[in-house]
Amino acid sequence: MLHYEKWEVNPLLKNRSLTPVLKWAGGKRRLLGSLIPLLPQRITAYCEPFAGGGALLFQLQPATAFVNDINAELTGVYEVIKSDVEALITALQDFTNEAGAFYSVRDWDRDKEKYASLSAVKKAARILYLNKTCYNGLFRVNNAGEFNSPFGNYRKPNIVNAPALRAVSAYLNTAAVKLTSLDYAEVLKNLPQDAFVYLDPPYDPVSDTSSFTGYAKGGFTRDDQIRLRQSCDELNSRGLKFMLSNAATDFIKEQYAAYHISIVQAQRTINSDSAKRGGVEEVVVRNYK
Ligand SMILES: C[S@@+](CC[C@H](N)C(=O)[O-])C[C@H]1O[C@@H](n2cnc3c(N)ncnc32)[C@H](O)[C@@H]1O
Repeated sequence: MLHYEKWEVNPLLKNRSLTPVLKWAGGKRRLLGSLIPLLPQRITAYCEPFAGGGALLFQLQPATAFVNDINAELTGVYEVIKSDVEALITALQDFTNEAGAFYSVRDWDRDKEKYASLSAVKKAARILYLNKTCYNGLFRVNNAGEFNSPFGNYRKPNIVNAPALRAVSAYLNTAAVKLTSLDYAEVLKNLPQDAFVYLDPPYDPVSDTSSFTGYAKGGFTRDDQIRLRQSCDELNSRGLKFMLSNAATDFIKEQYAAYHISIVQAQRTINSDSAKRGGVEEVVVRNYK
C-alpha cells in the first residue's frame, strides 16, 4: 500500500532515476507538482487507462498498477522494456540522427506485411528512435495509421538512454504491473474495489486548431468526452476514487460540475507554432476531497 506525505511516495520502491522514456503529447511531467498534492492519501492499486508517457505512474511507482493505452505501438514499447531491455538497448544503437535514415525507418510501416514480420524488439526500438528524433516527439499517424511526423533535426537527441530504459524495466519487473492496450472503458470494468484511477485523456480542444487530439486513428471527439464522463460517473457510483485531467473548457467544466474541480496552470509544449506554447489552464477533476 502506498502511504505518502506530500511529495514522498512509496519509499521502498522509489527509484529517482526513473523518468518517462518517451516524450508524449500531453505528458504530465511538468504538472507533477500540481497533481501530486491532489492525489488521495492512500493508494493500494493504481490505474492509468490513458498512460501515454506515464509521467505520474513513473513518479509514483505504485506496487500494483494497471497501465493501459489504446496505442499498441506505445504499450509494445513498455512490453519490450519489461521483457528484453538489453536487446532493445542494443537495437537502438543501430539508428542515426540523420534525415535519410529517419525517413527510411519511419517508412517501415508502409509495407504492412513486412512490418508485421518485424520482431517486437525492432518495432519498439523504431518507436523510441522516432520519438527522440521526430519533430517535437509527436506520435502522429495518418488515416492509414502510418507514422507521419517529420524529422526534428535536433542537434544531439538521446537515442539510447540506457539508464532510463533500465530503470523503467526494473520497475515493470519489480511491481505487479498489468499492461494492456484496450479502450479505457474495458480496463475500468475489472478493477479491484480499492483501486484509484488517474485519467488523462486526449483533451477537449480549446479551439478548432489549437489542440492535438490525434494520438490514434479517429481522434477523440466530444462524444468520446461524454462517454468518458459517463465512465467517471460509473466509477463514482461503484465507490472508486478517480482524478481526471482535461482542458479547462466550458464544456468540460459543465460535464464535471458534480465533482471537485481544481484549476492548474500548464505549459503547452506540443504546438507547431512556438508562440502558442505558453501557459494554459487545465482542470483536475476529483470525486474525493
Ligand atoms: C494526454 S495523453 C496521456 C499523457 C500521459 N499522462 C503522459 O504523462 O504522458 C492521452 C493518451 O490517451 C490515449 N488514448 C486515446 N484514446 C484512448 C482510448 N479510447 N482508450 C485508451 N487510451 C486512449 C492516447 O494514445 C494517448 O497516449
